[in-house]
Amino acid sequence: MSENSTNGGYIARDWTRQPAAYTPGYKTTVKRSPQAALLSFPTTLSEETSPVFGHGIIGELDNDLIHNFAKPGESAIGPRIIVYGRVLDETGRPVPGALLEFWQANAGGRYRHAKEGYIAPLDPNFGGCGRMITDENGSYEFRTIQPGPYPWPNGMNDWRPAHIHFSIFGHGFAQRLITQMYFEGDPLIPLCPIARVLNDQRAIDDLTAPLDMNRTVPMDARAYKFDIVLRGRRQTYFENRKEGL
Ligand SMILES: [Fe+2]
Repeated sequence: MSENSTNGGYIARDWTRQPAAYTPGYKTTVKRSPQAALLSFPTTLSEETSPVFGHGIIGELDNDLIHNFAKPGESAIGPRIIVYGRVLDETGRPVPGALLEFWQANAGGRYRHAKEGYIAPLDPNFGGCGRMITDENGSYEFRTIQPGPYPWPNGMNDWRPAHIHFSIFGHGFAQRLITQMYFEGDPLIPLCPIARVLNDQRAIDDLTAPLDMNRTVPMDARAYKFDIVLRGRRQTYFENRKEGL
């Protein structure tokens, strides 16, 4: 029997999988981690219930980063991939209607952002952002190019593994989760100070999408599978909140 089918009750999350807020190896946490006891503010009714989006906001190319910023007839430079998976709750049930947003560097490891300082060139046909809403099975899929690794000012020579950032919106304004996905086989993952704050190989593995040759489109794109679990002991690690939607 899988741990997802043991009963219909609440499956407690595993607190031991969460990293400490203060992790000096990831320098930014020194200033960002709380220095005093946390205060709890009750949420308002509108924060919990107000809808923030509808299906009408999704454009035809929003889940195709190869083309959604490209000139007509052109496409982004880089290894073409499909990223797909499901958003699931703690019992393995699908979460339909969740808004997924994703953003990433281009194939050379550079973001299209005013404060980006890496010397790798911009790709005029690549914006680096997309979005879609999960279907009735909790499924999502988008096409993109595989992002490149990039250096960042942390230690003397730190590089981020290739990764895609994800935001997941639920049905209320306050329901937002943020995480990032890595790629199977990337030798930079175990060296990354951000990935290393997790201190738990299972949590890092949950953030690492395996290559899925069955979903590959021959002569077109490779495929990577990334499921997102919102709560419970199999929960995906989220950067902004410890609990799911
Ligand atoms: Fe990034």
